[in-house]
Amino acid sequence: MRIKKMICAAASVALMGSMAMAGNMSNAQIYNKYCQKCHGPNAEGNPAKKGPALNDKDINELFDALMNLEERGFEGSKHEAMTHNMKVLEKKKGIHVDPQSMAKYLYYSFNPNAK
Ligand code: HEC
Repeated sequence: MRIKKMICAAASVALMGSMAMAGNMSNAQIYNKYCQKCHGPNAEGNPAKKGPALNDKDINELFDALMNLEERGFEGSKHEAMTHNMKVLEKKKGIHVDPQSMAKYLYYSFNPNAK
């Protein structure tokens, strides 16, 4: 009984782990490859690309923004530029950004207020 439960727990942890990844890429890899050129290596923003800073947003703001892109689909979102980016990533590269794990990654990696 115990063992079964443990296997079950291990399997669901593995599942959650893989859901946090988009394809085979971690959020860090996705960020470095596809996000930092517009948002800066430390999410400080990149005015040349009009990418706003993300390191001053709290985790809920990040989650909301990313969720908003996903939920309202790619139309009707107030984030026009990002809507376009995410669509291109998904269609062309098969990379799906998970709003929750990406928000966590961004917040804990870059926001100086994150503890
Ligand atoms: C081509 C440039 C570009 C790339 C690449 C890009 N972004 Fe953005 N991003 C923008 C711009 C411009 C905005 C502001 C306008 C908008 O939201 O559409 C923005 C807005 C955002 C916001 C909302 C910020 C707020 O003020 O609420 C988040 C979160 C975000 N981006 C995350 C990401 C992530 C994660 C990636 C990588 C998967 C990424 N961006 C890739 C240009 C980019």
